[in-house]
Amino acid sequence: DQAKKDDAKAASSGGKQITMGFSQIGAESEWRTAHTESIKSAAKAAGINLQFSDAQQKQENQIKAIRSFIAQGVDIIAFVPIVETGWDTVLKEAKDAKIPVIVVDRDVKLSDESLYIAKIGTDSVAEGKKVFNWIDEYMKKENKQPRSGDKFNIVVLEGTVGSSVAIGRANGFKEAMAAAPDAAKYTILASQTGEFTRQKGQEVMESFLKSDRDKIDILFAHNDDMALGAIQAIEAAGLKPGKDITIISIDSVKGMFQAMIDGKANCTVECNPLQGDILMETAKKILNKEEVPKNVYVEEGIFPADVAAKTLPERKY
Ligand code: AHR
Repeated sequence: DQAKKDDAKAASSGGKQITMGFSQIGAESEWRTAHTESIKSAAKAAGINLQFSDAQQKQENQIKAIRSFIAQGVDIIAFVPIVETGWDTVLKEAKDAKIPVIVVDRDVKLSDESLYIAKIGTDSVAEGKKVFNWIDEYMKKENKQPRSGDKFNIVVLEGTVGSSVAIGRANGFKEAMAAAPDAAKYTILASQTGEFTRQKGQEVMESFLKSDRDKIDILFAHNDDMALGAIQAIEAAGLKPGKDITIISIDSVKGMFQAMIDGKANCTVECNPLQGDILMETAKKILNKEEVPKNVYVEEGIFPADVAAKTLPERKY
């Protein structure tokens, strides 16, 4: 459409097309695939030449990619930090080369905040809080009782170790739990990384079930893919996912909506991967020397099973 054509023109105005170096972390989940697709299609629509690099889940590959973007002299660098720390040196190199940097999706911890211009992404602490608050309301509304003992036993499948999203979601969840009037009704029985993948989620859930099959009341998975893997483990153990064990996760990908429609999961808190358009807009503004906000959060909802069938046809990822 016309707006997109205008954008494309703007990106190549001044005689030179904008080149963006983008370091993605990999393809670990359905969410990540949607994120990559959003970045690639937005770059195309905006007329930005995207140098896309896939780090295959390794920070060292991301650092190499960023160094190679600097060596090529790209106009702007954007990257998804797989983990929070360890970026100071390479971002200082980008700053010295006068190449602006945008942090995408996850957060970084730096000694000097001026090493990046803007961060576009999601609020993982808020997501973790939404998860606990939804659980607390649901358990009351459904008049659920612990399967054994007098507390609800929660197991957690965590995301990538050291990633801001795994840290933020875990902290947000625990903060909301500590602040709840009936905090004493809940306990975290086990918490382990499933690396944001379906396969690992299934394996770790199998091991949780081996030790505590008849105690687990609630599963909180840091992403939908791990919840989907865990559902298979729960069924293989002869239990009913979504009934014997209440299941909630984060992302809101189509696969999780289908699991809710099938009665095998209970809720998904949205983490919005559609960050491409806002990234390209922000890049253009930065290169035009316009002011941009340091932090931009994309909008996120929450989808329990009872709205799944109605909502699935509208989902974009
Ligand atoms: O950083 C966002 C997280 O990474 C998503 O929740 C997860 O699915 C992805 O792999």
